[in-house]
Amino acid sequence: MAGQALAAVLGIVLLLALLEPAAAAGLKFSEHDLRSEKAVRQLYERWCKHFQVARKQEEKVHRFANFNQTVHRVASRTIRVADEPLRLNGFADATWAELEACRCRMTPEGRRNLAPMPVKRRGGDANLPLPISIDWRNRTCQGHQCLGPTTGNMIVQLSQQELVDCDQTSRGCRGGLARNAFNYVTQNGIASWQNYPYSFLQRQNGTCLARTTPRTAVTMTGWSQLEPHNEYDLLTQVTYAPVVVAISVGENNTDLTSYAGGLYWGKCGTKNDHELLLVGYGFNYYILQNSWGLSWGDFGYLYLPKTHNCGILNRGATYPVIDDWD
Ligand SMILES: *[C@@H]1O[C@H](CO)[C@@H](O)[C@H](O)[C@H]1NC(C)=O
Ligand SMILES: *[C@@H]1O[C@H](CO)[C@@H](O)[C@H](O)[C@H]1NC(C)=O
Ligand SMILES: *[C@@H]1O[C@H](CO)[C@@H](O)[C@H](O)[C@H]1NC(C)=O
Ligand SMILES: *[C@@H]1O[C@H](CO)[C@@H](O)[C@H](O)[C@H]1NC(C)=O
Repeated sequence: MAGQALAAVLGIVLLLALLEPAAAAGLKFSEHDLRSEKAVRQLYERWCKHFQVARKQEEKVHRFANFNQTVHRVASRTIRVADEPLRLNGFADATWAELEACRCRMTPEGRRNLAPMPVKRRGGDANLPLPISIDWRNRTCQGHQCLGPTTGNMIVQLSQQELVDCDQTSRGCRGGLARNAFNYVTQNGIASWQNYPYSFLQRQNGTCLARTTPRTAVTMTGWSQLEPHNEYDLLTQVTYAPVVVAISVGENNTDLTSYAGGLYWGKCGTKNDHELLLVGYGFNYYILQNSWGLSWGDFGYLYLPKTHNCGILNRGATYPVIDDWD
């Protein structure tokens, strides 16, 4: 009897473990892991286990070179804040082509055909005091977590893949616009989670599968854009819902591709070339949801210091205007 109860409990624990995301936040390591090549190889095995990546023996040979390079680069970064641990993310053994593929970089051409709708500011009372911090990841909307792929969310995670595949005016991964692709707030209701297959933001063979996939009942009619250089306005909008912002990343920014949590003090670029979703802020940092998967950053999130914000205020934040609900 006790055995059966124990088995049932173990079964539930196992089930819960399986429901956990496969990926994990950064893997911590130390200088000690770099003392010899053997030690780095052991770290690589630990990394494979942590991120649950299966590598064939022959694949490991060339990937270890990438891993070795990443580990040494991360360990030698002078910008590292002294009390922050060294961490690796799930891209540590990635090839250059793989990093390029996940980049989903915005390009100047990507912006050309798009013009914003007039700003429809939510709220209107200027100069109300803002909350000291907001984190939409911890908020509940009508009894459910607001963010995330859960049926009944008040914030609906619409299909990013559908927009990458089907959007006619933007450019998908070669500079697609995130404002089309993140989370949108319903006016006063609940909408269902759209189950559109998601394949790492690559165009699916140039095919729009949406015509054959069940659709959510939402139409985006346009988007609003805030004025740049106004942090108060930006944070005010975040009190209503997450908004899309652009930061400057630059080409080949390995500081950012190898980011695995903690405050980001790495390199920034000069053009606002990468879009993310601003989901909150703390006293001295912004909290941003990236589109590079859960094994990047802090379970997919970036903590950007307000004093080192990669030009987040240089381009006005955008958010969608949604009209039609079936
Ligand atoms: C690992 O990186 C170190 C430092 O760059 C280098 O000296 C060493 O040759 C590399 N080992 C391998 C197997 O790539
Ligand atoms: C909010 O959620 C995030 C992610 O789950 C967590 O890291 C953070 O500590 C939470 N913040 C609070 C105040 O609970
Ligand atoms: C991709 O498109 C090509 C040409 O239309 C077709 O032959 C191929 O089967 C497609 N692949 C997939 C995975 O749909
Ligand atoms: C980025 O890296 C690629 C591949 O190594 C290289 O061809 C390109 O010139 C680099 N660009 C910059 C700006 O360093």
